Amino acid sequence: MKNISPAAVYLKDYTPSDYLIDTVDLEFELGETSTRVKSKLTVRENPASLSSAKKLILNGENVLLKTILLNGKELTKTDFKIQENKLIISAVPAKFELEIHTLIKPQENTSLTGLYQSNGNFCTQCEAHGFSHITYFLDRPDMMACYTTTIIADKEKYPILLSNGNLVASGSLGKDKHWVKWEDPFKKPCYLFALVAGDLERVQDEFITQSGRRVDLHIYVEKGNKHKCEHAMQAVKKAMKWDEDTFGREYDLDIYMIVAVSDFNMGAMENKGLNIFNTKYILASPETATDDDFLHVESVIAHEYCHNWSGNRVTCRDWFQLSLKEGLTIFRDQTFTEDTMSAAVARIHAVNDLRNSQFGEDAGPLAHPVRPESYVEINNFYTATVYNKGAEVIRMIQTLIGKEIFRQGLDLYFSRHDGQAVTIEDFVKAMEESSGISLEQFRLWYSQAGTPVLDIKDEYDPHHKTYYLTIRQSCPATPGQNEKLPFHLPFKIGLLNGSGEEMFETVLQVKKQVEKFKFDNISSFPIPSLLRSFSAPVKLHFSYSDEQLQFLMQHDTDLFNRWEAGTKYWVRVILDLVNDFQVKKKLQLPLGLINVFSALLQQAELDKWLLAEMLTLPSERYLAEQMTIIDVDAIHAVREFVITELANQLKQDFIETYKKNHSLNTYQFNLQEVGRRQLKNRCLDYLVHLDDFTLHEQLALSQFAVALKNNMTDTLSAIKYLTYVDSPLQGKILTQFYAAWKHDPLVVDKWLSLQAISKSPDTLDKVKLLTQHEAFDIKNPNKVYALIGAFARHNPVRFHSAKGEGYLFLTDIVLELNALNPQIAARMVTPLTDWKRYDIHRQGLMQRSLEMILKTKSLSRDVHELVSKSLQ
Ligand code: BES
Ligand code: ZN
Repeated sequence: MKNISPAAVYLKDYTPSDYLIDTVDLEFELGETSTRVKSKLTVRENPASLSSAKKLILNGENVLLKTILLNGKELTKTDFKIQENKLIISAVPAKFELEIHTLIKPQENTSLTGLYQSNGNFCTQCEAHGFSHITYFLDRPDMMACYTTTIIADKEKYPILLSNGNLVASGSLGKDKHWVKWEDPFKKPCYLFALVAGDLERVQDEFITQSGRRVDLHIYVEKGNKHKCEHAMQAVKKAMKWDEDTFGREYDLDIYMIVAVSDFNMGAMENKGLNIFNTKYILASPETATDDDFLHVESVIAHEYCHNWSGNRVTCRDWFQLSLKEGLTIFRDQTFTEDTMSAAVARIHAVNDLRNSQFGEDAGPLAHPVRPESYVEINNFYTATVYNKGAEVIRMIQTLIGKEIFRQGLDLYFSRHDGQAVTIEDFVKAMEESSGISLEQFRLWYSQAGTPVLDIKDEYDPHHKTYYLTIRQSCPATPGQNEKLPFHLPFKIGLLNGSGEEMFETVLQVKKQVEKFKFDNISSFPIPSLLRSFSAPVKLHFSYSDEQLQFLMQHDTDLFNRWEAGTKYWVRVILDLVNDFQVKKKLQLPLGLINVFSALLQQAELDKWLLAEMLTLPSERYLAEQMTIIDVDAIHAVREFVITELANQLKQDFIETYKKNHSLNTYQFNLQEVGRRQLKNRCLDYLVHLDDFTLHEQLALSQFAVALKNNMTDTLSAIKYLTYVDSPLQGKILTQFYAAWKHDPLVVDKWLSLQAISKSPDTLDKVKLLTQHEAFDIKNPNKVYALIGAFARHNPVRFHSAKGEGYLFLTDIVLELNALNPQIAARMVTPLTDWKRYDIHRQGLMQRSLEMILKTKSLSRDVHELVSKSLQ
């Protein structure tokens, strides 16, 4: 940690390593205060090296060097030096064996990077640079080697000892200890290394691959959680089968292990053969997990499983290529969800994610391209841009060249680069070669930041029965990129006639800044359904009339665009009311809106889950994204007003739909049941906005009482609003909820979040008190996300309270986290970084907080980079 500006790394400076490591033989002796690590490396000069230096430079952080042996001979102090997290060994031969003995302290490791402990068990997190927190190494993803790992530990405390690959030997050591040896036959970069040791329970199953090989499936969890693994195990098998059927990808080891740990910075990690997951993406049971949780478990499992090919077999040359594995794998897991759940709803969720997080990133001080050109701390670049926009870029390639050819391109990419560390350029070339289509201009999606804007106009010539669309594209300036070149993008459209029949569907290729498309034989002025399925990650401007939007909501054959028409309409209505609110005009709902809603509630033929999505108003975040100066108070007040008005006027319809879809059957996770629950709970969201207390009691409270111990989806829906506002029931309900679930950490997270997002005026005080509660632990990332993250990101009205206490509170938390866990500190500071989007008064307060953070001594690289960039 330093407090002068840390140095940046540049993509243009990439050079091959001077040395290669072919094999890595590790031995861990796990102790109660420290762990001894012996690492034996076979090293040789890299024929591709550009330099003639005979120096070997290894990375290492927080590791205590004990001994180095070169070809069996111990090196003396003059043979090497340690300088700024580097071990420099001078005068090494062209080929040699290096043995390094180090000491690390996993028990003191609060950064959760490298080797650390979680609830008494050992585990690792090596992406991006965790391996150099374990031993000195060439910690770069293009350094691919074969690993064997020996683990020695206390038998009783750590009966389970795991690493990558296959178990090849094991035995006892003295009275108390035992050892195991694992061998991974596949070459891998060190970021995919993993080790787990602990007293864990195992759930097992198996999978027979398409070529008939048997794969053992093991899920390890902390004691007492075995009964919550069934859903995860089914998901593993589903993902394995799907990847074979869809992309022809087969699993390659005889065993696939997953370990769920309580303390984890991220969601999950794809270590070869030994994935490590945050418990929240493995453990799921009807009484503790919501529909959303069940869904996430499936998609995160699919994601990490898919990495076995997109990331592990073919990996990244350097970290600038991160989207090569993450964008592609998000695209693959999104496709999995579309294929196995409701396709339209899956697409809606993906687009919501993109708009809620990536659009803001692209419009702010931290905007960067999908392939960044420089970074100070790579952990700051696991962003929505690299992930979600990266996935959209892959999807656009698929749309441009067609699904079948895309599949051929992917096959070519995997076979050509199997076992290699490659670049985004290699991926694009494989797609170009298989399709014969030039992606020259398309590559700009990887290098230019910012969300493009499409301004669209149409004309109809009844005489010649021709219809025209003129598309003008532009892209706002982003840091370091003032001028942008036009993008190449697929623009999927449909043309509907007045009776809702589709006259035409096509994918237009947009390449120029302004382009005019002509459509012949169009018998009447059509209603265009534009950017179907969100075929490109852009903002669209087209002056639809209210009637046209309502028409599309009912008739569009593209289900995503039905929802999208609704979203456009709600945004328009709400933003108009925000204007009224700001000039203190009396708010009134347009009659059209009520009619549209009531018509929607009657659309029985629609998939219920989709209907539930269509009945959901745009999030406060998405609404904020549409405003130049964000007015959090107005957005919140108006959105609540609209919900309450709709509830008042359509009370009977909501009650009827609620009752029709409410069921006391035991919880099942399938399309139909999720659809029913989502729809009725959406109705409940409206109904609880009514002041009618008997109704609350009848519906919400009885749903709460019945579901509390057996259905978390219903429990949370029932109490969300009562804890959201200053209801007299708030205290009682929260106490009851905690009493019922205080033994379950993941449910306690929900309990913390409920309180953090409450709109009661004293929420900040309550959040502060909760940081002292037995349930909170600042060292546990899930708890930090649940309480602090929820408050700062999902409670804009309270976080941005005009006096600025929210900012000061977050500042204190960020500084405390900075010393414990810089990655989490950096994730928590982001709500402050888009300070320029708020009014002058708030800008000043936020800026002051950022400056205070920047002045702090020992500021981590992680926080320093984000704060200094946002102040620029
Ligand atoms: N490789 C990442 C995990 C990771 C991220 C490690 C950042 C180190 C730093 C993993 O594949 C991943 O992307 N996990 C996501 C979940 C996924 C479903 C988007 C995560 O952890 O949030
Ligand atoms: Zn990933």
